[in-house]
Amino acid sequence: MVTTDAFKRALANLAGGVVLVTTLDDQEEASGMTATAVCSISVDPPLVMVCMNHATATHRAVHASGIFAINFLAVGAESLARRFASNRPDKFQGLDTTVAKTGAPIIDIALAHCDCTVEQAVTAGDHTIFIGRVLEAHAKPRNDLPLLYFRGDYGSVASIPQNSGAGKKKDA
Ligand SMILES: Cc1cc2nc3c(=O)[nH]c(=O)nc-3n(C[C@H](O)[C@H](O)[C@H](O)COP(=O)(O)O)c2cc1C
Repeated sequence: MVTTDAFKRALANLAGGVVLVTTLDDQEEASGMTATAVCSISVDPPLVMVCMNHATATHRAVHASGIFAINFLAVGAESLARRFASNRPDKFQGLDTTVAKTGAPIIDIALAHCDCTVEQAVTAGDHTIFIGRVLEAHAKPRNDLPLLYFRGDYGSVASIPQNSGAGKKKDA
């Protein structure tokens, strides 16, 4: 039987792009958290997924509202990632946001975002896999490097050119 410690230590070697998952709670207040357990699933229809711990306030909010947005952070947004990885109540204070189609708050300084409605919620251990249908997706024409999380620290990639085309296949 694998220990929790060994499991966490092994998985910490999977470098993950850092996002803020944002939504509205049952009082229609902005709610959100830092996440790396996010990935795209399908192009047609456009689906993404995010895995959320049942114990988080953001999980409760997504469960109640049926909407979420994922906001992809760039290097330089480490303090924002730390703020959203806490459970402080004032995470959105002083932050510039825009209201998405679903009503989810979009973080203006994010590199890109996807605005989603929950298509399916699958319980998996102490997490729920929320599968979201993407209603709107937008990438900013910026050259910033992505914020990554690896072995408990924030960083980025050194070998990817900063001016690489967003989503364009170059090696096909
Ligand atoms: C880099 C990083 C990635 C994280 N990824 C996830 C994740 O994918 N899913 C999750 O449930 N929690 C994740 N967390 C933990 C949540 O951000 C943390 O539990 C947060 O306090 C939840 O806030 P809330 O209770 O206000 O929603 C991550 C934390 C960090 C620092």
